[in-house]
Amino acid sequence: MAQLIDGKRISKEIKDELKAEVDALKGRGIQICLAVVQVGQDPASCVYVNNKKKACAYIGIESESYELPDEVSEEELLALVDRLNHSEHVNGILVQLPLPAHIDEDKIIRAISPDKDVDGFHPVSVGRLWIGEPGFLSCTPAGIIQLLKRSGISMDGKECVVVGRSNIVGKPMAALLLREHATVTMAHSHTKNLWEITKRADILIVAIGKRQFIDAGYVKEGAVVIDVGMHRDDNNKLCGDIVFDEIFEKASAVTPVPGGVGPMTIAMLMNNCVEAVRK
Ligand code: GUN
Repeated sequence: MAQLIDGKRISKEIKDELKAEVDALKGRGIQICLAVVQVGQDPASCVYVNNKKKACAYIGIESESYELPDEVSEEELLALVDRLNHSEHVNGILVQLPLPAHIDEDKIIRAISPDKDVDGFHPVSVGRLWIGEPGFLSCTPAGIIQLLKRSGISMDGKECVVVGRSNIVGKPMAALLLREHATVTMAHSHTKNLWEITKRADILIVAIGKRQFIDAGYVKEGAVVIDVGMHRDDNNKLCGDIVFDEIFEKASAVTPVPGGVGPMTIAMLMNNCVEAVRK
């Protein structure tokens, strides 16, 4: 039976550390403000945005909301981002994705000042990550590194396999694992004989976005398994990219869904907001 990696507890620990740091900054007259921009009312985005604002309130970070209608033009959104870039009051800018189809997401991400890019999506942040310069880290992979470190799991010299190659999770995950001196393999939807690759992993990170796709047959006995997926099963219960019950019996440690990676993403967003004023 595996150790359950408790993202809820670890994210609370990080948020409490940040709360103390924010209190100390306030004592020196420094306030932090995150601008949260949402276009339209996608139900999942509403939940994420609300959770981010709640975390801000808990830590003592001000959040400024910008709720724009679905029909907002790309020019209008770019104008808002430009205004927030130049605002002395705003330290971090978050534009919740996905954006409506008529807006070019890459163009919006590139318009955000790299100094306020708390999502870590700007090409400057991505470049800094790959060459090992300090900068904003993509929140989900940074959260996974913290989950492992704070659970006493070393990555140094380990065989790590990342399944999924998105710009938000898979690619930055590989860069961060390399920074921790892991040997990293990236697998994805075109990988042949995926199980042969995943069974090599001491640490397996699953971010493929397919409900309960990875079962125990893909996992080496005693591996650590991190599940980035978030889906609803046939009974409308939240589940991930792995078949949890099977893998729980075979792995040495595993993250649950919910309560694993999810809360860590928000904790690391909060860390990036504090980082914006630490710099
Ligand atoms: N949509 C889903 N995840 C994220 C995220 O981490 N940041 C932003 N801005 N949008 C998202």
